Amino acid sequence: MRPLSLFGLERSRELAQRVAARLEIALARHEEREFEDGEHKARPLDDVRGHDAYVLHGLYGEDGASGNDKLCRLLFFCGALKDAGARCVTAVVPYLCYARKDRRTKPRDPIITRYVAAMFEALGIDRVIALEVHNLAAFENAFRIPTVRIEAAPLFARHFAGQLRGESVVAVSPDAGGAKRAEQFRRAFEELAAAAAGSAYMEKYRSSGVVSGEILAGEVGGRTAVIIDDLISTGGTLVRAAKACRAAGAARVFAAAAHGLFIGGAAELLAEPALDGLVVTDTVPPFRLAPGIAPGRLAVLDSSEAIAEAILACHGGG
Ligand code: R5P
Repeated sequence: MRPLSLFGLERSRELAQRVAARLEIALARHEEREFEDGEHKARPLDDVRGHDAYVLHGLYGEDGASGNDKLCRLLFFCGALKDAGARCVTAVVPYLCYARKDRRTKPRDPIITRYVAAMFEALGIDRVIALEVHNLAAFENAFRIPTVRIEAAPLFARHFAGQLRGESVVAVSPDAGGAKRAEQFRRAFEELAAAAAGSAYMEKYRSSGVVSGEILAGEVGGRTAVIIDDLISTGGTLVRAAKACRAAGAARVFAAAAHGLFIGGAAELLAEPALDGLVVTDTVPPFRLAPGIAPGRLAVLDSSEAIAEAILACHGGG
């Protein structure tokens, strides 16, 4: 087996450190330099010739580093690794930017997921690992190189199987596009809780920023609804689904999303009386939320074990 090097770019180092600890290795050393004009460079400080190199960088925007900026840094660093002789370079992106822009919704719309994929391939990146992407088929089809999607469903199932033991649970998708994701959670939950769970989904259309659709299909009356989504941006999608579940008689309503961006109305989301609790993973740290904003209402799940397992499976040829 080739030597494995795991790098964590700045602003993603904390998660990368935890992944490295799971793998029982130290993070490989690199340096990042900023130039006066806003340009930057990063280079490995250790020899990577012949190595399988993994580079972890979450591509969410934050103050001082937009998603575009982080994407650029990841691409350039992976290019540097290839030039330094790394045999195989895998980009590990717990949060993949532009994953939502995966199809045309207006005439002459860009399909940005595909353009992002083309940039990865142009730099010679050999493989991409991402946790819970917006649309799995679009993600897999955008890239010509192998892609690995880490499912968030097992993390959520483990969390809720402990918390909701003995309750009649129904997995709810807040839109038709997420029905398979909710189904993955339902199955994983059933297995862990050793109890049957139901399914429901909410009608949702979005046009020019306006969301419509009122139908909630499935039986939630008297049950505990768990709404599953890929990400929380403004929180509007989850609030809408939570209110619909309450209106249909759900006894308790929880929501789980892989990535918590918490933009705009996030504070209202955490105070929303229709929701009993909210779960996200740590692919995007909840830095936009004031500390202590929702004591007991927000759980942030550790994704490092799942990421480490994906790296090990890739490295072992699994
Ligand atoms: C949409 O298709 C996505 O899966 C999410 O449901 C959506 O992006 C969440 O956005 P927001 O939190 O702003 O409603």
